[in-house]
Amino acid sequence: EPVPADTGKRVLLAAPRGYCAGVDRAVIAVEKALEVHGAPVYVRKEIVHNKFVVETLTDRGAIFVNETDEVPEGARVVFSAHGVSPAVVASAQQRNLQTIDATCPLVTKVHKEAVRFASDDYDILLIGHDGHEEVEGTAGEAPDHIQVVNSPDEVDKVVVRDPDKVVWISQTTLSVDETMETVRRLRERFPTLQDPPSDDICYATQNRQVAMKKLAPHCDLVLVVGSTNSSNSVRLTEVALDAGARASYLIDYAKEIDETWLDGVETVGLSSGASVPEILVQDVLKFLADRGYADVQEVRTATEDLLFSLPRELRADLKKAG
Ligand code: F3S
Repeated sequence: EPVPADTGKRVLLAAPRGYCAGVDRAVIAVEKALEVHGAPVYVRKEIVHNKFVVETLTDRGAIFVNETDEVPEGARVVFSAHGVSPAVVASAQQRNLQTIDATCPLVTKVHKEAVRFASDDYDILLIGHDGHEEVEGTAGEAPDHIQVVNSPDEVDKVVVRDPDKVVWISQTTLSVDETMETVRRLRERFPTLQDPPSDDICYATQNRQVAMKKLAPHCDLVLVVGSTNSSNSVRLTEVALDAGARASYLIDYAKEIDETWLDGVETVGLSSGASVPEILVQDVLKFLADRGYADVQEVRTATEDLLFSLPRELRADLKKAG
């Protein structure tokens, strides 16, 4: 489908946008845990990187902590969608915590790749952002074998034991184009570099970037709803600029939109990260409609119907609860 022709003030609304299957499952896991077990339910780290979601679940009785040692002995804790290292699982066991693992299955898949390549004694280059929880979790699967490569510019710093036994894997929420550039440079240095068995950048990250690339060249301004610590949301603002949007901003809420951003703007592009509830996008659409941008045209590049079943521990509890 072509992007609709320009007809004055309008909004191009990206599709797919917003919740992915992994986020949906993780948020429902906390909600169901609260329902079955009652408050409080502890959650290690933000269940997903979205301010509104964390605030809403806090109101309902979730207690967010940074580490398992902040959870009372024997209490129930949910691990976030970004995954945890084996060290975190062990420390939870030591404190007799009852764990519900809401790690996205597509993150778990990358963990398994890391374990397998480490046991085959590869040097594993994990392309991703140092300090991001997902990267900490994945790297923790095989700290002796994994090094993190943040960007194409870091490729020259990489040191390996055997240049013919190197594999790359990645964080699930990166820019596809930047990652391919990093891989290209890695392969220049290590011609026999092995690829992961399948894409580590997940379907949701890829789909949201493809939609953004299609609409951004037509936009004077692109708004992305998402939190600043949400990797895939931040990537969408970068993809928008790379694809030709004149300006691009990341916002948590409609009220953060600065009216001057709209000066001289005809076409506004709008999308949201994989951790963002649709209600926040609808608020932005209302804000824009009030300012003359009532014409909303969807730009869809894919349809998504993936669904993950709830964490195993939780399904068992739900069954018991009848
Ligand atoms: Fe999973 Fe991708 Fe969402 S890794 S949590 S489906 S952004």
